[in-house]
Amino acid sequence: MDPRLAKFLQTNAQWAAAHQHENPIYFDQLKAGQKPHALLLGCSDSRVSPSVVMGAELGEVFVHRNIANVVAHSDLNFLSVLQYAIEVLEVREIIVFGHYGCGGIKAAMDDEAFGLIDNWLANIKDVMEFHAKELDAITDPQLRHDRLVELNVLAQIKNLQQTSVIRKAIKKGITIHIHGWIYDFSTGHIKVVYEPANEPAPQL
Ligand code: CO
Repeated sequence: MDPRLAKFLQTNAQWAAAHQHENPIYFDQLKAGQKPHALLLGCSDSRVSPSVVMGAELGEVFVHRNIANVVAHSDLNFLSVLQYAIEVLEVREIIVFGHYGCGGIKAAMDDEAFGLIDNWLANIKDVMEFHAKELDAITDPQLRHDRLVELNVLAQIKNLQQTSVIRKAIKKGITIHIHGWIYDFSTGHIKVVYEPANEPAPQL
C-alpha cells in the first residue's frame, strides 16, 4: 500500500482507540443518529477542511463540497443534500464556505481550457460577467481574485435562496439563515462576508 495511505489507516486506528478510551459511549452516541447544527457548502480543496478549521465535532456539521462551492440548479447531488438537510435533519443554518486562493476561481479567471471542468467553471464565469465592471476596475490580480471569491460566495447565497427547497421552506414559515464565510488558508482565519441577521439579501 502507498505509505501515506497506510499511515492514514494507522492514525485512524489510534484515533478510534483513543476516543473509545476517553469516552466509552462516544461511538454509540454517534450511531444513535445525527442532529447537525448547520449545513456547510465548501470547496473540495485539500487545504480547506471546514470541520477541522472550525473545530466542529463529529455530528455537528452536514457537509457538501465541490469545486469553488457552487450552487448549480441542475446539480441533483447538492440539491438532494440541501433537501435532506432542511426537511429531514431540520437544519436551519447554512454556511457557504468559500476560500481565498481558490483554484476553481483562478481557473475561471484565467480563462484556460481544462476540459470537462470548464462546464462547471462556467458557473463562476457567470458571476464574473455579472460583476465585470467592478472586477475590471481592480488592477491588482490578487485583489481581483479575492474579490471574485467574495462575489462568488454572495452569488451562491443568492442561488441558494432561489432553490425550490429553500422557497418551499420559506412558504412553510421556516426561517433559514444563510451565512457567507471565507476561509484564508494563508492565515487560518475565517472572514464573515455575509450575515443574515443584520443584512438584507446580498446586493448583486
Ligand atoms: Co477552492
